[in-house]
Amino acid sequence: MKHLTRLMDLSGEEIRDILNLADQLKYETKHNIPHPHLQGKTLGMIFEKVSTRTRVSFEAGMYQLGGHALFLSSKELQMFRGEPVEDTARTLSRYVSGLMIRAFDQGEVDSFARYAGIPVINGMTDFAHPCQVLADLMTVREYKGSLEGLKMAYIGDGNNMCNSLIVGALQTGMRISVACPKGYEPAPEVLAFAEKYGDAFELTHDPVKAAENADDVQTDVWVSSGMESQSEQRHRDFVGYGVTAEVMAAAREDAILQHPLPAHRGEEISGELFEAHAGEIFDEAENRLHAQKAVLMKLLGGEVTRG
Ligand code: CP
Repeated sequence: MKHLTRLMDLSGEEIRDILNLADQLKYETKHNIPHPHLQGKTLGMIFEKVSTRTRVSFEAGMYQLGGHALFLSSKELQMFRGEPVEDTARTLSRYVSGLMIRAFDQGEVDSFARYAGIPVINGMTDFAHPCQVLADLMTVREYKGSLEGLKMAYIGDGNNMCNSLIVGALQTGMRISVACPKGYEPAPEVLAFAEKYGDAFELTHDPVKAAENADDVQTDVWVSSGMESQSEQRHRDFVGYGVTAEVMAAAREDAILQHPLPAHRGEEISGELFEAHAGEIFDEAENRLHAQKAVLMKLLGGEVTRG
């Protein structure tokens, strides 16, 4: 594993390795056991969009690993004035040990990975949100004990979250059923990937059908960052594609409900359900920290073997 540009970069075994390391790092963090495995390492963090969780969890994670993180707003880099990605990537590679990038376009993260001589991590693009989904899988495993054979349901936009959840769920032995409005299906590349898994993947336009017997129900915002100009149309098209009491009633009685945040109560999730499942949702937010620390250790060379 050289980069984490999308979850398809990883095998199921590599995902499980990351989750195991994340569990260990969470234990050490909770028990104040120092784990400064990235001493002397610096992570450059390029943000083209706003962030609460991604920025703070990566920055705190690097600090806890004994390293340092550098916040780089794309508006304050020469990139903003037209310096090519290939030159920015090659320059930054001379200063920092790894790059985390939140960009509008997946192609930009892929270009950074092509030109940077250091590991590149996708902090969210239009196509994928791999770090969020590693945290989601970690959370499901905490609540359910394992992932194999469980059913995930995703209700809403076939967006970056949906793309990464499909790949992450299938790679780790889960089944996944996606319900989205017509015209908002997941990316063709992801549908082609899912085809290999036969019945383990289902695409429907009926949220209740998708949620039937689910162990884990997932949703995301109707209007992702960067799609604000489509807001009015999307609010019309997504009516009926929120997680409601009726949707949760179709899931298993002990189903958990996850949301990557920020949430829009009354749209993709009801306020009552959000509060009823706030424990899972904020565990999921916390697990960004632990899952990303595991990714950083794997990519930036700080992994240790314990007896
Ligand atoms: N879920 C997520 O990526 O949150 P931020 O946009 O706050 O980083």
